[in-house]
Amino acid sequence: MKFSLTFGFGLLSVAAAKSTVNGTRFSIDGVTKYFAGTNSYWISFLTNNKDVDTVMDNIAASGLKILRVWGFNDVNRKPSSGTVWYQLVSSSGSQINTGADGLQRLDAVVNSADKRGVKLIIPLVNSWDDYGGFKAYTTAFGGSKEGWFTNAKAQTQYKAYIAAVVGRYINSNAIFAWELANEPRCKGCNTDVIFKWATETSAYIRSLDPSHMITLGDEGFGVPGASSYPYGTSEGTDFVKNLGIKDLDFGTFHMYPSSWGVPNSFGPGWIKDHAAACKKAGKPCLLEEYGTQSNHCTEEKPWQQASRALVADGMGGDAFWQWGDKLSTGQTHNDGHTIYYGSADATCLISDHVKAINAL
Ligand SMILES: *[C@@H]1O[C@H](CO)[C@@H](O)[C@H](O)[C@H]1NC(C)=O
Repeated sequence: MKFSLTFGFGLLSVAAAKSTVNGTRFSIDGVTKYFAGTNSYWISFLTNNKDVDTVMDNIAASGLKILRVWGFNDVNRKPSSGTVWYQLVSSSGSQINTGADGLQRLDAVVNSADKRGVKLIIPLVNSWDDYGGFKAYTTAFGGSKEGWFTNAKAQTQYKAYIAAVVGRYINSNAIFAWELANEPRCKGCNTDVIFKWATETSAYIRSLDPSHMITLGDEGFGVPGASSYPYGTSEGTDFVKNLGIKDLDFGTFHMYPSSWGVPNSFGPGWIKDHAAACKKAGKPCLLEEYGTQSNHCTEEKPWQQASRALVADGMGGDAFWQWGDKLSTGQTHNDGHTIYYGSADATCLISDHVKAINAL
């Protein structure tokens, strides 16, 4: 009896981890392969469950397995009722909103994803000011954005928020990975600042939740291979050094050549250089955001080809920015990068990509 009990628990703990790494690839629900995904920052703030389900149905039907959604919505003042917010950050008492206009909206996303086998990457703070971000913390506790990483009061509240979100979904099979932040940068800082913060925060998350993957969410700046701006460490991240952090399970990088002042032909090299670093570290790389503002199909197809071709050499998957759909309230946010479900762009960058992956 005792043996079978112990055995039973062993099975349970293995079964809980539905998304894992397997060498330099990802494994989802027991399948190890290259995975395609997308981003929908806004799905976490929808107030109509039917809209959440529509998006999740369409993503699942498209063959995309990974969906990255915002897991934060920080405010310094409570908005009027009906507006979604997750955390009030305040020097006179912060508050995590577990109500109907709070984390229950994220619950709807997690539940909907779970029913459809879609796996979520959940970043826990934004480095940008959208939906609060580091700025919401520095507004409450003082200091600069670069000081956020070492601001004791900010870090204490950030950890309290992490504990609330991670604890809420600790047993969920819908979680692909926890992500420390969306695009953390520390301009002009020594790369030790982000390295130390990422080491400490990832160890903290692991102590709370040993079975889900953890990743950084950085743009992949600071990698060997070339000398243009993205390859340098001026934004405070050293990709290779951070990849060595024990509790970070895989590497993330983003790609927006036109915003970075490089041509779109920059893409395949950027992918190859990250894949090489990941292969060396023995962890998968995820190209977790990429996009162009025009000629989506022509410009982005070669990036997807380059990434897929490195399936045995460090690339675990990719997730384009961003998913577009039609909701009860109309079309979702068109930021120029959006690939709308059912469009010719979607045939090119989703259907064709998924077919090519399945043929690998
Ligand atoms: C890891 O991948 C290899 C090669 O595809 C496969 O044979 C093995 O079963 C995978 N392991 C797990 C735990 O998924």
